[in-house]
Amino acid sequence: MNTLLQKLQDAQNSQELEAFRIEGLGKKGIITQKFSELKSLEGEEKKNLAKELNEIKQKFEAIYWAKKSQFQINELKTALLEEKIDVSLFQSISHRSIGHPISYTKDRIIDYFMHLDYELCVGPLVEDDFHNFSALNLPDFHPARDMQDTFYFKDSMLLRTHTSPVQIRTMETQTPPIKMICPGATFRRDYDLTHTPMFHQVEGLVVDKGDKASFANLKYTLEDFLKYIFGNVKIRFRSSFFPFTEPSAEVDISCVFCQGNGCRICSHTGWLEVLGCGVVDEYVFEAVGYKNVSGYAFGMGIERLAMLTCGVNDLRSFFETDLRVLEQF
Ligand code: DAH
Repeated sequence: MNTLLQKLQDAQNSQELEAFRIEGLGKKGIITQKFSELKSLEGEEKKNLAKELNEIKQKFEAIYWAKKSQFQINELKTALLEEKIDVSLFQSISHRSIGHPISYTKDRIIDYFMHLDYELCVGPLVEDDFHNFSALNLPDFHPARDMQDTFYFKDSMLLRTHTSPVQIRTMETQTPPIKMICPGATFRRDYDLTHTPMFHQVEGLVVDKGDKASFANLKYTLEDFLKYIFGNVKIRFRSSFFPFTEPSAEVDISCVFCQGNGCRICSHTGWLEVLGCGVVDEYVFEAVGYKNVSGYAFGMGIERLAMLTCGVNDLRSFFETDLRVLEQF
């Protein structure tokens, strides 16, 4: 632990600093793992270790943020010097404006569902606990709440962790049949190669009277949609769990990087997970006062689809607004 603190202290640049942060506090980091050992302890032993670990974590974070801001200032100074533009120079190459890969992917998703007559819905980014969690069958203290590291405000308000609350808001204000999608920003406390604290999702919801909206409809729609986005890939539905759907599934496509043969990106499985879906749980209908209806829902991360279609493996490059990167798409 002390060596790690020392390493962090000695980091020479942001890349090294980030690597050491992940070594300590990343999902599989040394400190994170030590925290998970707390589960198996009890009483004094647990209390002491927790205290010790929290102290280390605080020290670690203090060094990290101090070094990070120092590097950021230095890097900005160097960049300002190196990237100085002489605006008086004649520019012979003109640049066409291009769409950002995330907007482009979002527009393609919207296009597909607009052609199927889905309505485009929106909802607030600052949500209440009821719409983001309870109405979606995630009552207080439900362990599945941990799946979504939430930014909280006072009074049970929060930054929405997914676009699923818009399902609830739409059902509260409309009567079936409903066919809607909701693209928008979502927020979670997460930051690494494939996660940023702000990201985008598209939610889909179909509700109809009686038992008209079935899993078969859902499967057909998503298969056709994924062929539209990714071309000729294999698709599989893997049974999974979401509190708001039953049955639930995650959908995988054959790896677009190795054509399903197995590579580092697909963890040698040949498959990449691209979205979650399922048949709307009865508890959700109960929360909005719906009776005698059936429905299905799905949710996908726009960044994830954009990374896979653009062949990008560091999500952060989408947000750095460096035209040299963005112009390549
Ligand atoms: N809300 C889920 C998430 O953020 C994604 C999701 C899964 C949405 C299944 C759905 C669904 O509507 O049916 O991870």
